[in-house]
Amino acid sequence: MCGITGYIGCRDATPILIEGLLKLEYRGYDSAGLALLDNGTLDVKKKKGRVSVLAEEVDKHPFRATMGISHTRWATHGGVTDANAHPHVSSDGNFAIVHNGIIENYENIKKFLLDKGYSFSSQTDTETLVNLIAYHYEHRTPPDSENRFLEAVRKTLRHIEGTYGFAVISKLCPDEMIAARKGSPLIIGVGKNEYLVSSDILGFAGRASNVIYLEDGQIASITRDNCDIVTVSNAPVDVRVNEIDWELENAELGGFDTYMEKEIFEQPKALENAIRGRISDDMSTAKLSGLNITPNELRQFDRILFCACGTAWHACLAAEYLIEKYARIPVDVEYASEFRYRNAPLDKNTLVFVISQSGETIDTLEALRESKRKGFRTLAITNSVGSTISRESDGGLYQYAGKEIGVASTKAFTSQIAICLLVALYIGRMRDLSFAAGREIVSAINSLPRAVESVLAKASGIEKIAQKYTSYEDFLFLGRLAEFPIALEGALKLKEISYIHAEGYPAAEMKHGPIALVCPECPSVILANSDDISLKIVSNAQEIKARKGPIIAVTDRPELFDGIADDVIAMPRVHESIRGIVATVPLQLLAYYIARSRGCDVDKPRNLAKAVTVE
Ligand code: M6R
Repeated sequence: MCGITGYIGCRDATPILIEGLLKLEYRGYDSAGLALLDNGTLDVKKKKGRVSVLAEEVDKHPFRATMGISHTRWATHGGVTDANAHPHVSSDGNFAIVHNGIIENYENIKKFLLDKGYSFSSQTDTETLVNLIAYHYEHRTPPDSENRFLEAVRKTLRHIEGTYGFAVISKLCPDEMIAARKGSPLIIGVGKNEYLVSSDILGFAGRASNVIYLEDGQIASITRDNCDIVTVSNAPVDVRVNEIDWELENAELGGFDTYMEKEIFEQPKALENAIRGRISDDMSTAKLSGLNITPNELRQFDRILFCACGTAWHACLAAEYLIEKYARIPVDVEYASEFRYRNAPLDKNTLVFVISQSGETIDTLEALRESKRKGFRTLAITNSVGSTISRESDGGLYQYAGKEIGVASTKAFTSQIAICLLVALYIGRMRDLSFAAGREIVSAINSLPRAVESVLAKASGIEKIAQKYTSYEDFLFLGRLAEFPIALEGALKLKEISYIHAEGYPAAEMKHGPIALVCPECPSVILANSDDISLKIVSNAQEIKARKGPIIAVTDRPELFDGIADDVIAMPRVHESIRGIVATVPLQLLAYYIARSRGCDVDKPRNLAKAVTVE
């Protein structure tokens, strides 16, 4: 949700900022801009469109500077125009800012500033922030303050409601950059006589291995050879530098056409990484030291609450089936955005789990914080080492799936379910799950990467099926029990990357309404990989067939769909504990190939952004 980069050092800032923006483009891609500062001159360029459009503009009119800030936008306040693109400059021309987040009281601030003679040239909330900084610098901070720029920003932030991660530079303080954070991530990269700022370590493009994670309520004053941090209430902060592992952050296309395709095909590896080192020596349970909780403590919980958004929420639903089945603990699943406001009554022995690929989704983070405020033990499953959610939870499990760049989540989803299965196994073995059943599940978990590989080997067949369905505008995705969340995820994948309307439903529930949609123009993708219930699903398929709805069956019992399904994707027969994960893969491929043949930009679907850090 908007990407920010900043540089202050001795090198030419432009290529560093542009490269950083290209790496952050997955966070937003409506418009892009940069501001460079050299010798008292502030050079601002900003353009509607992708970073490549900005890069062309920068090439046409180069400006050399050794410090600057840049931004790739996901529009919140104000349409997608050049004027609304960041950076925004104060009306006195002295300050330039790039901002991620929402200033909720911007209208009041704007009125105040208009009265004082400040003017505005965009519809954004951000422009009020930069003008308020200019106002505080000019009128509220004595010229002899120890650090007048920092002081002006600090005073400004006391009047700001909402969320922000920003970097601001000023003609009046040509050797300093100020960065601050509340609610939107911001990281400072530490180099030799240089500092970088970014919303995500990817934005450093490998240029910094030592980083400082700015926390909420902190403000950094950065020069070429120093970084001081204070809080908004002016308390000094001990600066802690962390090392990052660039191998984990590797995000090159590696011969694939798109990140989404690469990430779908990376799933066997991602699953191996999720499982590695997490199986007990006797192969009957999981080893999950990251949970940071003793077996005795874990036994005290008699309920688990999962919170997440989007695809991660679907992973929570999959977790509900797995944990209730194998660990026999009741599980509730909540949308994080609802949970944070609805003050749900929670039993005192509830363990709260959040799932977030990015570890930065604001609703999930706030659900976590609210649970902590209420005194609940919180755990997180996240793919982003060092992310805010991973830092603020009481314990958790990293996915190690490798950076996910495609806006549509793929490998993160299957890896999240794999980790939830490990959790189900671990808690199950502490309770009623037998040694033999534990060994069976471990053996299934170990077979997972190869099972997924065998489905990926069918990609060209799935692509052929996809070609037949590219012009349909409505789809149903139907599955039962553990495959219901997978149906939801299949529908989400299709709609977010191909803009086709799709709905996921429990197969039998379809009769209670969605069947009204069934017609020759509305295909149904039916998941039927469960022994117990396959025959019931075949009956549901017959009901669709009787109404002339085209059917794509995804099944490990293709014979059941002879004469019923128009197309069949034959699945390997796998243990029930891993069926959901394996069944996800053909749905990802189907969505991918349909979207590609409709000419959609699958890595950067319209209106979306990878990490949703605003409400
Ligand atoms: O980073 P998170 O897992 O917290 O993200 C949650 C959702 O925003 C995310 O899964 C979103 O739904 C994806 N676009 C799905 O493909």
